[in-house]
Amino acid sequence: MNRSAPGPGGGESLSIGRLVLRNRVLLAPMAGVTDLPFRTIVRGFGCGLAFTEMVSASGLLRGGKTCRYLDSSPLDRPLGVQLFGADPAALAEAARIAAAGGADLIDINMGCPVKKVVKTGSGAALMRDPQRVTAVLRAVRGAIALPLTVKIRAGWNRREANAVAVGRIAEDCGVDAVTIHPRTVEQGFGGFADWELIASLKARLRIPVIGSGDIRSPGDAERMLRETGCDGIMVGRGVLGNPWIIGSILSHILGGSVSGPSLAEREEIINRHLALAVDYYGLTVGPRDFRKHLLWYTKGLQGGAQFRRMAAGITDQAAAGEALRDYFRRLVVAEGMSESGGDSFSGGALPAGAEGVQTTVRNGRIPRQQTAEGVK
Ligand SMILES: Cc1cc2nc3c(=O)[nH]c(=O)nc-3n(C[C@H](O)[C@H](O)[C@H](O)COP(=O)(O)O)c2cc1C
Repeated sequence: MNRSAPGPGGGESLSIGRLVLRNRVLLAPMAGVTDLPFRTIVRGFGCGLAFTEMVSASGLLRGGKTCRYLDSSPLDRPLGVQLFGADPAALAEAARIAAAGGADLIDINMGCPVKKVVKTGSGAALMRDPQRVTAVLRAVRGAIALPLTVKIRAGWNRREANAVAVGRIAEDCGVDAVTIHPRTVEQGFGGFADWELIASLKARLRIPVIGSGDIRSPGDAERMLRETGCDGIMVGRGVLGNPWIIGSILSHILGGSVSGPSLAEREEIINRHLALAVDYYGLTVGPRDFRKHLLWYTKGLQGGAQFRRMAAGITDQAAAGEALRDYFRRLVVAEGMSESGGDSFSGGALPAGAEGVQTTVRNGRIPRQQTAEGVK
């Protein structure tokens, strides 16, 4: 039995091995995004489990900068550390290091399609080599007592769509849950995630199956759970600039009402995230690294394009805070004016929703042309 109802954090809980999650809404691992500051912000909206971005096993063994990916905090719990590599012994040793560093769960990346990764036999390339999958999972399983999961794709291409076979190997090796992003490597991030494959995998495995791909709204989340029967859902790009979606999903799953944050609340969340980033990365790197989040936070908002052009040059926290204050003040004024039938932003701002908002719906699913800046 993978599920029990209801979890203390809203929605049904989900057990992965000995780890009992408060709910079944998970934050996806995203390279360059799911660092400690971002995870801390998303945790505030109640996600049941969050992951580090993928961490190189050989990098961890060498020590040095890679170890920073293991940084966590008491608020950042429970934490899954995702490892990538191709060598069973190195992955096993890296899993031991991550466990000793405080991970609550270890995940093995078998889905990364990036050339630099697959050419070393890691990431999604592992799925092409079932014997190596077995060797890796046996080695890691033998090395740690923590819950162990794998994250896979549909397969390399349509001819080599072997997700179910790899899922079965994982189950036989004692893995505690499988996450699937049901696109092939050749698909990259194009087209749609094939949710039917999530349902097929769920029907064939005894361990929990977590679905990933194309959840952009609370309705999508509820539909993935209902249509595929999966045990948990993982949200990736839908969280970028939109961390409160996790809370909205949890409310929706529980049959409650869904409302996003007010403009004042958004501004407060963005500033809190910025402060965490500066605290973590320092005064120079923090604000620069945060620029990508500023772009995501303002995507689709009135005057967002104008703000983003300006934000591209921001190099310090004070300037970022000032720009946000000015932008949100103008947004509040524009909101008031539109409520009273007036015009919006002066100074050539774009009309609300003029950019970044998908309007075409096919088969009840929103096409995903938007790729986040920095998507691999
Ligand atoms: C910027 C970015 C970075 C990603 N990095 C990782 C990663 O490090 N490990 C991983 O397993 N998947 C990674 N993914 C894939 C996501 O975890 C997720 O499976 C995929 O984006 C589909 O879900 P979505 O439609 O909700 O974004 C990444 C995706 C994006 C957009």
